[in-house]
Amino acid sequence: MIRKMKSIERGELEKFLYEAIYIPEGTSPPRTIINRPELKVYVEDFGTRAADVCFVAEVGGEIVGACWSRIMNDYGHIDDETPSLALSVLKNFRRRGIASDLMKKLCTRLAEKNFKRVSLAVQKENSAAVRLYRKLGFEIVDERGTELLMMKRLGDD
Ligand SMILES: CC(C)(COP(=O)(O)OP(=O)(O)OC[C@H]1O[C@@H](n2cnc3c(N)ncnc32)[C@H](O)[C@@H]1OP(=O)(O)O)[C@@H](O)C(=O)NCCC(=O)NCCS
Repeated sequence: MIRKMKSIERGELEKFLYEAIYIPEGTSPPRTIINRPELKVYVEDFGTRAADVCFVAEVGGEIVGACWSRIMNDYGHIDDETPSLALSVLKNFRRRGIASDLMKKLCTRLAEKNFKRVSLAVQKENSAAVRLYRKLGFEIVDERGTELLMMKRLGDD
């Protein structure tokens, strides 16, 4: 089931932020990595701004995936009118279309809120995510070191 995140579930975002960090094979950063300022911007005071939208995927009462957006100065920032997003699905629940469903719901909601574009940053090496984003209509608009900046116009599909 895909649904909006409830405000009491905000704590879950930290878990999914950690999951969203692309980890090259064999390495796992410490959990405390999410306290870094450049990662805190994804979750701090979430729900207080217009572009703060989060959908979660629930299976058997457990949240197994989350996709959320906000206008923030993160790696995927394009301008102050364009929300950027974060996404992750727990390992055991991948390749079932959950991320695709989450992203579609999020994009629809942002379009309803009159946002014209949505952006994100993804590690070039993260081929699973790059493939997913391309399938959903995101285009590469810039390359920043090891990352790609991707963008989608909302309301195009
Ligand atoms: C990337 C991620 C969110 C995909 O979640 P998911 O629920 O498995 O994605 P979906 O099932 O909706 O996949 C949709 C499409 O994306 C592509 N894709 C997803 N995972 C893939 C993989 N491991 N290898 C190749 N293609 C993949 C495929 O084209 C897939 O369609 P298909 O299954 O019909 O072939 C998930 O792997 C994840 O959480 N990864 C770790 C965190 C992360 O990288 N987040 C993104 C940071 S920018």
